[in-house]
Amino acid sequence: MHCHIGSQITDLDVFDQAARRMVALLAAIRDEHGAMLLNLDLGGGFGVAYRAGDPELNPAQLADRLRRTVRSACAEHRLPVPRLTIEPGRAIAAHAGVTVYRVVSVKHTPGALLVAVNGGMSDNPRPSLYGARYSVRLIGRRGAGGDRAASVVGRHCEAGDVLVPDARLPADVRPGDLLAMPCTGAYHHSMASNYNLVRRPPVVAVRGGRARLLVRRETVEDLLARDVG
Ligand SMILES: Cc1ncc(COP(=O)(O)O)c(C=O)c1O
Repeated sequence: MHCHIGSQITDLDVFDQAARRMVALLAAIRDEHGAMLLNLDLGGGFGVAYRAGDPELNPAQLADRLRRTVRSACAEHRLPVPRLTIEPGRAIAAHAGVTVYRVVSVKHTPGALLVAVNGGMSDNPRPSLYGARYSVRLIGRRGAGGDRAASVVGRHCEAGDVLVPDARLPADVRPGDLLAMPCTGAYHHSMASNYNLVRRPPVVAVRGGRARLLVRRETVEDLLARDVG
Protein backbone atom coordinates (compact mmCIF):
# COMPACT_ATOMS: atom_id res chain seq x y z
CA MET A 1 0.00 0.00 0.00
CA HIS A 2 1.24 3.45 -0.89
CA CYS A 3 0.12 6.96 -0.09
CA HIS A 4 1.54 10.41 -0.68
CA ILE A 5 -0.27 13.17 1.15
CA GLY A 6 1.40 16.25 -0.29
CA SER A 7 4.57 18.31 -0.40
CA GLN A 8 6.43 20.69 1.89
CA ILE A 9 4.66 19.28 4.95
CA THR A 10 6.14 20.31 8.28
CA ASP A 11 3.44 19.06 10.65
CA LEU A 12 4.13 15.60 12.09
CA ASP A 13 0.47 15.14 13.02
CA VAL A 14 -0.73 14.86 9.43
CA PHE A 15 1.74 12.02 8.73
CA ASP A 16 0.47 10.38 11.86
CA GLN A 17 -3.14 10.62 10.68
CA ALA A 18 -2.19 9.23 7.26
CA ALA A 19 -0.37 6.28 8.88
CA ARG A 20 -3.41 5.46 11.04
CA ARG A 21 -5.75 5.58 8.04
CA MET A 22 -3.44 3.39 6.00
CA VAL A 23 -3.20 0.76 8.74
CA ALA A 24 -7.01 0.83 9.04
CA LEU A 25 -7.16 0.23 5.28
CA LEU A 26 -4.74 -2.71 5.57
CA ALA A 27 -7.07 -4.17 8.21
CA ALA A 28 -10.16 -3.60 6.02
CA ILE A 29 -8.46 -5.32 3.08
CA ARG A 30 -7.55 -8.27 5.29
CA ASP A 31 -11.13 -8.48 6.61
CA GLU A 32 -12.83 -8.16 3.21
CA HIS A 33 -10.40 -10.01 0.97
CA GLY A 34 -8.29 -12.13 3.29
CA ALA A 35 -5.13 -10.51 1.89
CA MET A 36 -2.36 -9.52 4.27
CA LEU A 37 -0.37 -6.70 2.69
CA LEU A 38 3.10 -6.54 4.19
CA ASN A 39 4.57 -3.36 2.72
CA LEU A 40 3.42 0.13 3.63
CA ASP A 41 4.88 3.14 1.83
CA LEU A 42 3.90 6.35 3.59
CA GLY A 43 5.17 8.60 0.81
CA GLY A 44 6.81 11.91 1.31
CA GLY A 45 6.52 15.61 1.23
CA PHE A 46 9.03 16.34 4.03
CA GLY A 47 9.16 20.11 4.24
CA VAL A 48 12.50 21.92 4.03
CA ALA A 49 13.33 25.48 5.15
CA TYR A 50 14.03 27.50 2.02
CA ARG A 51 14.68 30.65 4.04
CA ALA A 52 15.92 31.32 7.57
CA GLY A 53 13.02 30.98 9.96
CA ASP A 54 10.91 28.73 7.68
CA PRO A 55 9.60 25.62 9.46
CA GLU A 56 11.30 22.33 8.60
CA LEU A 57 10.39 18.73 9.27
CA ASN A 58 12.82 16.77 11.41
CA PRO A 59 13.22 13.34 9.68
CA ALA A 60 14.50 11.62 12.86
CA GLN A 61 11.46 12.81 14.83
CA LEU A 62 9.17 11.77 11.99
CA ALA A 63 10.71 8.28 11.79
CA ASP A 64 10.34 7.83 15.52
CA ARG A 65 6.73 9.00 15.53
CA LEU A 66 5.71 6.92 12.49
CA ARG A 67 7.22 3.74 13.89
CA ARG A 68 5.34 4.21 17.16
CA THR A 69 2.07 5.11 15.42
CA VAL A 70 2.22 2.18 12.98
CA ARG A 71 3.12 -0.26 15.78
CA SER A 72 0.24 0.85 17.99
CA ALA A 73 -2.30 0.98 15.12
CA CYS A 74 -1.24 -2.52 14.03
CA ALA A 75 -1.65 -3.80 17.58
CA GLU A 76 -5.16 -2.28 17.68
CA HIS A 77 -6.12 -4.04 14.43
CA ARG A 78 -4.19 -7.22 15.27
CA LEU A 79 -2.01 -6.88 12.18
CA PRO A 80 1.67 -7.72 11.76
CA VAL A 81 3.77 -4.54 11.50
CA PRO A 82 4.36 -3.99 7.77
CA ARG A 83 7.72 -3.15 6.23
CA LEU A 84 7.77 0.65 6.16
CA THR A 85 9.03 2.82 3.32
CA ILE A 86 9.21 6.62 3.14
CA GLU A 87 9.94 9.00 0.24
CA PRO A 88 11.80 12.03 1.61
CA GLY A 89 11.90 13.73 -1.81
CA ARG A 90 13.46 17.19 -1.72
CA ALA A 91 14.57 16.74 1.89
CA ILE A 92 17.41 14.53 0.57
CA ALA A 93 19.04 17.11 -1.67
CA ALA A 94 17.57 20.60 -1.22
CA HIS A 95 20.15 21.89 1.26
CA ALA A 96 23.04 20.43 -0.72
CA GLY A 97 22.58 22.87 -3.60
CA VAL A 98 23.53 26.54 -3.83
CA THR A 99 23.01 28.45 -7.07
CA VAL A 100 25.61 31.09 -7.87
CA TYR A 101 24.58 33.89 -10.19
CA ARG A 102 26.59 36.76 -11.60
CA VAL A 103 25.03 40.21 -11.52
CA VAL A 104 24.77 41.61 -15.04
CA SER A 105 23.06 44.92 -14.40
CA VAL A 106 21.68 47.02 -11.57
CA LYS A 107 18.95 49.61 -11.88
CA HIS A 108 18.29 52.11 -9.09
CA THR A 109 14.75 53.48 -9.20
CA PRO A 110 13.15 55.68 -6.53
CA GLY A 111 11.04 52.77 -5.29
CA ALA A 112 13.26 49.78 -5.93
CA LEU A 113 16.67 48.34 -6.57
CA LEU A 114 16.50 45.91 -9.50
CA VAL A 115 19.37 43.47 -9.73
CA ALA A 116 19.48 41.38 -12.92
CA VAL A 117 21.51 38.17 -12.97
CA ASN A 118 22.78 35.80 -15.66
CA GLY A 119 20.09 33.17 -14.96
CA GLY A 120 16.49 33.15 -13.82
CA MET A 121 13.34 31.31 -14.81
CA SER A 122 15.20 28.91 -17.11
CA ASP A 123 17.46 27.50 -14.38
CA ASN A 124 14.89 27.88 -11.59
CA PRO A 125 11.27 28.20 -12.70
CA ARG A 126 9.81 27.76 -9.20
CA PRO A 127 9.54 31.43 -8.18
CA SER A 128 7.80 32.39 -11.47
CA LEU A 129 5.66 29.25 -11.67
CA TYR A 130 4.18 29.25 -8.21
CA GLY A 131 5.78 31.95 -6.10
CA ALA A 132 8.41 29.80 -4.35
CA ARG A 133 10.45 31.99 -2.01
CA TYR A 134 14.23 31.89 -1.67
CA SER A 135 16.85 34.02 0.00
CA VAL A 136 19.88 35.45 -1.76
CA ARG A 137 23.12 37.04 -0.57
CA LEU A 138 26.19 38.72 -1.93
CA ILE A 139 29.30 36.51 -1.84
CA GLY A 140 32.95 37.09 -2.64
CA ARG A 141 33.25 40.56 -1.14
CA ARG A 142 31.84 42.65 1.65
CA GLY A 143 29.10 45.04 0.61
CA ALA A 144 29.04 48.68 1.66
CA GLY A 145 26.36 51.28 2.25
CA GLY A 146 24.02 49.08 4.31
CA ASP A 147 21.38 46.71 3.02
CA ARG A 148 18.53 47.82 0.78
CA ALA A 149 15.35 46.16 -0.36
CA ALA A 150 16.00 44.69 -3.80
CA SER A 151 14.37 42.51 -6.44
CA VAL A 152 16.60 39.94 -8.06
CA VAL A 153 15.39 39.35 -11.60
CA GLY A 154 16.42 37.03 -14.42
CA ARG A 155 17.70 37.59 -17.93
CA HIS A 156 14.78 36.26 -19.93
CA CYS A 157 12.95 39.47 -20.85
CA GLU A 158 9.76 38.39 -19.12
CA ALA A 159 7.74 40.33 -16.55
CA GLY A 160 7.41 37.14 -14.49
CA ASP A 161 11.13 36.40 -14.46
CA VAL A 162 11.66 37.41 -10.83
CA LEU A 163 13.86 35.13 -8.69
CA VAL A 164 13.61 36.95 -5.35
CA PRO A 165 11.13 39.84 -5.16
CA ASP A 166 11.93 40.71 -1.54
CA ALA A 167 15.71 40.40 -1.23
CA ARG A 168 17.96 42.58 0.91
CA LEU A 169 21.30 43.36 -0.73
CA PRO A 170 24.13 45.81 -0.08
CA ALA A 171 23.38 49.23 -1.59
CA ASP A 172 26.58 49.06 -3.64
CA VAL A 173 25.74 45.78 -5.40
CA ARG A 174 27.11 46.06 -8.94
CA PRO A 175 27.62 44.17 -12.21
CA GLY A 176 30.17 41.40 -11.81
CA ASP A 177 29.14 40.61 -8.21
CA LEU A 178 28.23 37.05 -7.29
CA LEU A 179 24.96 36.22 -5.58
CA ALA A 180 24.34 32.89 -3.84
CA MET A 181 20.89 31.37 -3.53
CA PRO A 182 20.82 28.49 -1.03
CA CYS A 183 18.49 25.50 -0.82
CA THR A 184 18.43 24.88 -4.57
CA GLY A 185 19.59 21.25 -4.56
CA ALA A 186 16.13 19.86 -5.36
CA TYR A 187 13.67 20.71 -8.15
CA HIS A 188 16.20 23.05 -9.68
CA HIS A 189 18.62 21.46 -12.13
CA SER A 190 15.93 18.85 -12.83
CA MET A 191 13.46 21.62 -13.75
CA ALA A 192 15.89 23.75 -15.78
CA SER A 193 14.87 24.44 -19.36
CA ASN A 194 16.12 26.18 -22.48
CA TYR A 195 13.53 28.94 -22.15
CA ASN A 196 14.37 31.55 -24.80
CA LEU A 197 17.18 29.21 -25.84
CA VAL A 198 19.20 30.15 -22.78
CA ARG A 199 21.81 27.47 -22.11
CA ARG A 200 21.60 25.51 -18.88
CA PRO A 201 24.32 26.07 -16.27
CA PRO A 202 26.79 23.42 -15.07
CA VAL A 203 26.55 21.52 -11.79
CA VAL A 204 29.72 21.48 -9.70
CA ALA A 205 30.39 19.40 -6.59
CA VAL A 206 32.37 21.16 -3.89
CA ARG A 207 33.97 19.43 -0.93
CA GLY A 208 36.85 20.36 1.34
CA GLY A 209 37.77 23.31 -0.87
CA ARG A 210 37.88 21.19 -4.04
CA ALA A 211 35.53 21.50 -7.00
CA ARG A 212 34.54 18.71 -9.40
CA LEU A 213 32.38 19.19 -12.47
CA LEU A 214 29.32 16.90 -12.40
CA VAL A 215 27.28 18.30 -15.30
CA ARG A 216 29.01 20.47 -17.89
CA ARG A 217 27.67 23.82 -19.05
CA GLU A 218 25.40 23.56 -22.09
CA THR A 219 26.87 24.77 -25.40
CA VAL A 220 25.39 26.34 -28.53
CA GLU A 221 26.17 23.02 -30.28
CA ASP A 222 23.97 21.26 -27.70
CA LEU A 223 21.14 23.63 -28.55
CA LEU A 224 21.57 23.10 -32.27
CA ALA A 225 21.98 19.32 -32.05
CA ARG A 226 18.31 18.69 -32.95
CA ASP A 227 18.27 21.32 -35.68
CA VAL A 228 18.00 19.23 -38.84
CA GLY A 229 16.48 21.69 -41.32
C1 LIG B 1 4.66 9.94 -4.85
C2 LIG B 1 5.62 10.99 -4.37
N1 LIG B 1 6.50 10.69 -3.39
C3 LIG B 1 7.39 11.61 -2.94
C4 LIG B 1 7.42 12.89 -3.44
C5 LIG B 1 8.44 13.85 -2.90
O1 LIG B 1 7.90 14.93 -2.28
P1 LIG B 1 8.62 16.34 -2.22
O2 LIG B 1 9.90 16.34 -2.96
O3 LIG B 1 7.64 17.28 -2.83
O4 LIG B 1 8.86 16.60 -0.80
C6 LIG B 1 6.51 13.25 -4.46
C7 LIG B 1 6.49 14.62 -4.99
O5 LIG B 1 5.52 15.13 -5.46
C8 LIG B 1 5.59 12.26 -4.95
O6 LIG B 1 4.70 12.57 -5.92
